[in-house]
Amino acid sequence: MNKDRKLIIAGNWKMNKTVAEALDLVRGLKIELANVKEVDIVVCPPYTALADVSRAVLDSNLRLGTQNMSEHNVGAFTGEIASVMLKEFSVRYVILGHSERRQYQKESDALIAKKAAAVHAASLKPIVCVGETLTEREGGQTEKVLATQVSGSLAGLSKDQMAETIVAYEPVWAIGTGKTATTAQAQETHAFIRRQIAKLFDETVARRVRIQYGGSVKPSNARELMSQLDVDGALVGGAALEARSFSDIIKSSI
Ligand code: 13P
Repeated sequence: MNKDRKLIIAGNWKMNKTVAEALDLVRGLKIELANVKEVDIVVCPPYTALADVSRAVLDSNLRLGTQNMSEHNVGAFTGEIASVMLKEFSVRYVILGHSERRQYQKESDALIAKKAAAVHAASLKPIVCVGETLTEREGGQTEKVLATQVSGSLAGLSKDQMAETIVAYEPVWAIGTGKTATTAQAQETHAFIRRQIAKLFDETVARRVRIQYGGSVKPSNARELMSQLDVDGALVGGAALEARSFSDIIKSSI
């Protein structure tokens, strides 16, 4: 596919996979995807599988990500994980502000912005998630909601940091529902997000930022979604839990 931005496709495993299951999945992915160079491929297992998955992907084209990180570096923050701990396992990417964390852990844009700053300070790359709910879309609020999330969650980043940040557009109504945004909806919304980034930073930064689409991505719709001008990859949930379907998504997008 002919775009200047390299596609980045990440699997968000959410709260799935024991260590044995995680290793099984990675073994399958390494075989299926051994020859893929055109796409940045990222797997984001739960923390408990990081050490083993990290060893398993060492000699491969799979990169490691996590699903969250603390905004603090060290100290009395029960249950939290700091950047220095992730770096011990060669983590490169950190998903931030997923709609499930915004909903269940009440993460705010301001908190996500602090986390994004901490991720960059550790020389890791954040994947910052934004997306509207069904009520917001049906109420004509999509652009307003996204503009607020984009400016709030990316506040304080330098231009260089922003250019290295990945944004994931995940309409909440499309996550785990089998409903996907149409390719036209995805393209239109991605272009809107890119325009917001241009306003907040500048055109050059906006042209460099990779914007992933997420929400019921599967082998049958991946190619069409990623053929859109402003769709630079995917953040995949359910279909990333099996080697065959995640590999097919990646191969079909090349
Ligand atoms: P599904 O692909 O299962 O809809 O999940 C998308 C998602 O939330 C990825 O972060």
